[in-house]
Amino acid sequence: MTLDELKLEVEACRSCSLWQGRTNLVFGVGNPHARVLVVGEAPGADEDAQGEPFVGRSGKLLTEMLALAKLTRDDVYIANILKCRPPENRNPLPDEIKACTPWLREQTRIIAPEFIVTVGNFATQFVLKTDLGVTKLRGRIHEAGRFKVYPVFHPAYALRNRNTVLPQLEEDFRTLGKLLEV
Ligand code: URA
Repeated sequence: MTLDELKLEVEACRSCSLWQGRTNLVFGVGNPHARVLVVGEAPGADEDAQGEPFVGRSGKLLTEMLALAKLTRDDVYIANILKCRPPENRNPLPDEIKACTPWLREQTRIIAPEFIVTVGNFATQFVLKTDLGVTKLRGRIHEAGRFKVYPVFHPAYALRNRNTVLPQLEEDFRTLGKLLEV
C-alpha cells in the first residue's frame, strides 16, 4: 500500500468521534522515503485549517530546529499520534490514541525510517511504550524494534519556556544532526 492509498482509508476512519469536529484530516506530509520520521501529538487549529502537521507557531519552531540538524521539512516525514484535532486542543484521550495509532504504525511501516523523532510526551510514551516523561529520555537514542527513537521536547513547551527548555531543544537537534552524519 502507498501513503496516498492509506490516506484515503484514514479519511473514512470513524474509529473515534474526533472526525466530527475536524475541518481537515491531518494525515502527514513529507518524503515517503525519509530517513527521519517526526511524530508529534495532534493537530491544532492551524493544522486543522490547512490539513498539514506543524504549520502553526510550534511548526515554525520545529522547522528551525530541523535546520539545526541540517534537515528541511522535505527531507523528513512529519505525522502526529492523532490525525484529527481534539476540541479546544485538549490532550489526546487513551481511547483516541488506541483508535488512531494503527494508522501511524502503517505509515511507519510504509516509510520505513531509520530514526523516529518523538516530539513531546504523548509521542514518546506511545512509541517507546513507557510511562517515563520526555525530560528523562530526551536527546539520546532508544531502540524500538528496528527503529532508533530520539525523543525531544515539544516545541510548544519550548516556546513557553524560552530560557530553559529552548536551549535544550536546540542542543538535541544539533546532536541529531551529528547522529545523522554517520
Ligand atoms: N503540535 C503537534 O504535536 N502537532 C502538530 O501538528 C501541531 C502542533
